[in-house]
Amino acid sequence: MSLPSNQYTKNPPLDEVDLLPDPIAQLQAWIEAAREAGMIEPGAMTLATADAQGRPSARIVLFKGAKDGGVCFYTNYESRKGCDLAGNPQAALVFWWDKLERQVRLEGRVDRLSREDAEHYFHQRYRGSQIGAVTSRQSAVVATRAELDARYDAHEQALQGQPVPLPDFWGGYRLLPESVEFWQGRGGRLHDRLRYRRDDAGWRIERLEP
Ligand SMILES: Cc1cc2nc3c(=O)[nH]c(=O)nc-3n(C[C@H](O)[C@H](O)[C@H](O)COP(=O)(O)O)c2cc1C
Repeated sequence: MSLPSNQYTKNPPLDEVDLLPDPIAQLQAWIEAAREAGMIEPGAMTLATADAQGRPSARIVLFKGAKDGGVCFYTNYESRKGCDLAGNPQAALVFWWDKLERQVRLEGRVDRLSREDAEHYFHQRYRGSQIGAVTSRQSAVVATRAELDARYDAHEQALQGQPVPLPDFWGGYRLLPESVEFWQGRGGRLHDRLRYRRDDAGWRIERLEP
């Protein structure tokens, strides 16, 4: 199989002066630009975790807003990622928007959002997604699809006419970044890379070689 070797020439140069002082505000501006460009999931981000032995794993989760300088997402606390984060709270997030030829990378410590945040977000979701969250023992092996569907149907039946209770095992996390890198494609593989790093005075921006 031969895949194209694309040139990235869409963007003007990315300079320090083009960036907002706060990297989370800058990230939100790029997510919004991806939405305006017609991307289906502009908030899709790859979350990389590692277990207590340092074995990495990665998967996509959805950006669900910023809070107190951090990036939020929701999941099952007992999933593989939840177990990884319980043993090792350091993680990384990566966004890639092909239509914009842009990538953002964040690294930092992850903590749990409050129960109130989870309640608020959980009950905004489609009822089917709420029942799905109650149903799924995310990351566990299941013998058949039919077993999963039967469990979903049983929950749906049992909860008829009632609000779906937020399960204890489900909620949000916030990654509080120590570094945030904005990458924009340029010709000749000499891409622009600007990285914010936290220091005592706030955020410092430095340019990295491509
Ligand atoms: C576009 C997209 C969005 C997703 N969003 C989430 C999400 O917000 N939360 C979540 O738990 N899983 C989400 N998933 C599923 C995860 O990628 C993954 O399969 C699941 O969380 C289990 O991962 P784990 O076994 O490593 O914990 C999403 C998958 C895709 C492709």
